[in-house]
Amino acid sequence: MSELFASFKLGQVELSNRVVVSPMCQYSADDGVAGDWHMHHLVQYGYSGAGLITLEATGVERRGRITHGCLGLYSDACETALACIIRSSRRFAGPARFGIQLAHAGRKASAHLPWKGGGPLGPEDDPWQTVAPSAVPFAEGWPAPGALNEDGIERTLNAFVDAAKRAARAGFDAVEIHAAHGYLLHEFLSPISNRRTDSWGGSLENRMRFPLAVVSSVRAALPSGMAVGVRITGTDWTEGGWGIDDAVVFARELKVLGADYVCVSSGGITHPLQVPQTQGYNVPMAARIRKETGMATQVVGMILTPSQAEEIIKSGQADMVCLARCFLDDPRWVWHAAEELNARVHYPPQYERARRSVWPGAGILRPFKDRE
Ligand SMILES: Cc1cc2nc3c(=O)[nH]c(=O)nc-3n(C[C@H](O)[C@H](O)[C@H](O)COP(=O)(O)O)c2cc1C
Repeated sequence: MSELFASFKLGQVELSNRVVVSPMCQYSADDGVAGDWHMHHLVQYGYSGAGLITLEATGVERRGRITHGCLGLYSDACETALACIIRSSRRFAGPARFGIQLAHAGRKASAHLPWKGGGPLGPEDDPWQTVAPSAVPFAEGWPAPGALNEDGIERTLNAFVDAAKRAARAGFDAVEIHAAHGYLLHEFLSPISNRRTDSWGGSLENRMRFPLAVVSSVRAALPSGMAVGVRITGTDWTEGGWGIDDAVVFARELKVLGADYVCVSSGGITHPLQVPQTQGYNVPMAARIRKETGMATQVVGMILTPSQAEEIIKSGQADMVCLARCFLDDPRWVWHAAEELNARVHYPPQYERARRSVWPGAGILRPFKDRE
């Protein structure tokens, strides 16, 4: 029996299996509002067979978007568009559940789209003033962010809460707070970017204060039937940065506050990106966090094959696997994994005739040497 395809309870949200479509920015929104591309994107992954689809980093305020094309959830127009897309996606998705990643890009905001170079916007590109815990630029050539004052911190916290309420009204099953990849909440956590000397900086306890306040307020604002997760960083991969011991403490605190899961990622606070592109590079960190905190754990990063994913779950290194580029490469990854692991997943009835059990072509395309 495949353990990858066993159901899992994320808080009160029932997942049909342990495969998660990782949040992936599409840079295709207009003032934060999702459009045709998002409809296509979410409907497609909705019927991919994955247990959970977590929609991309979504700015909780306009200045919290990475680029002019990033999704937002700060206006009625943003909320209405997402509600419409979720409604459509659910019609074809069978048992799949939908989450949304709420984010604030902090000092990495006001950037070009990746396919236009990804660097900071210039004066002619309608840039905006970025914010961060401290006025330390992301990298050479990036503008200095404004250090958030008490009012700014409160405003940002409220923006997370308001966006979470919008996500609930739009029909999502889960909210994931983005506290990784060098964005605002990670900037508070990491000593690389947080140089404050007030109660929001310095000790680990102080650096965790703002992200924990966000998670606690979001949890309190959402119905108990919705799951709340946090994407965290296992390590900054850099001397003097955030490390796995910190991540264990953070995850423990998140659990106390009622978070339902963490998704363990890493890197992104420094430039250029220093992440080892080896298979399952975050898995040992996820395993340690899961073991030492008892927190439901997703792991992301170079999880490629069904057997690798099955082994991660079976060996108890994580509860769920989260895949990004595999899904861009092959939106049918879950269907093929189910074939290989001898499990059954949802197909929309329109596509049922491609099931291996009824289509001999699948066996020719993907032969199993040890079975057929
Ligand atoms: C196109 C693209 C967009 C991404 N956008 C996000 C995002 O919105 N939020 C996030 O946390 N990670 C984002 N990531 C990172 C992925 O979620 C994932 O953590 C990373 O790609 C490693 O997983 P993989 O090896 O399965 O691709 C993005 C990755 C890609 C390829």
